[in-house]
Amino acid sequence: METTIIKQLTDNQDIAENLKLLVENTSGKVVFSTSFGIEDQLITDLIFSNQIENIEVFTLDTGRLFQETYATWHQTELHYSQKIKSYYPENETLEQFVNEKGINPFYESTDLRKQCCNIRKVVPLQRALKGTTVWITGLRAEHSPNRNSLEIVQWDAQNQLYKYNPLLHWTTQQVKEYVNKNGIPYNILHDKGFISIGCAPCTRAIKEGDDFRAGRWWWEEASKKECGLHG
Ligand code: ADX
Ligand code: SF4
Repeated sequence: METTIIKQLTDNQDIAENLKLLVENTSGKVVFSTSFGIEDQLITDLIFSNQIENIEVFTLDTGRLFQETYATWHQTELHYSQKIKSYYPENETLEQFVNEKGINPFYESTDLRKQCCNIRKVVPLQRALKGTTVWITGLRAEHSPNRNSLEIVQWDAQNQLYKYNPLLHWTTQQVKEYVNKNGIPYNILHDKGFISIGCAPCTRAIKEGDDFRAGRWWWEEASKKECGLHG
């Protein structure tokens, strides 16, 4: 990506304008991954409301998401009259894993938890990113101390593409205000103490004052709490 475009994406606050610029100046696939979290809903809104074509909006359906997340997915497709592409785990690998290790092996060890994340999220992500030049995400620095070193536009050596994280420095308050002001559909779990929402068996609500990441894989040490999607 040209340095002038990286600078524009980093400095310009108008994300819709940036998304258009990105599509116009990129050869290769531009994709946006959504987990239907509130920040992802904001980006989805910018893409669909501004009719920005040529950005593939996709999700990784692990098969273990909350019913509320599936409801948000359905509601989003109805609201924008758009489809969100879904990627699934490889059936034989998943069958073998569940048949050998059980249905909820992730509580037993970090190793088994990472194997589950690998099968249900990371491998499908690699398929989704095939041929992609720019990957847009809803990553926010507030969600995890590990994310303080991220940049709005960064080279992702693991996936050999650029990542664009437009909401990296937005606060939860700013995201909520924007979503409410614009009538954007969101996951009702956010009104019940959930900040970062992943798979149902591995996510719970947090209490006021808790670390934002406290509701994810709460039985593990803080330093291990990444699933491999973002390195
Ligand atoms: S994770 O690494 O802990 O799982 P997190 O939930 O913070 O990620 O979400 C950060 C970004 O990763 C989201 O904004 C979204 O772009 C992407 N993401 C996370 N989970 C999924 C998913 N199931 N499907 C698609 N994208 C996802
Ligand atoms: Fe499996 Fe939990 Fe990872 Fe989801 S978050 S893929 S259920 S270990």
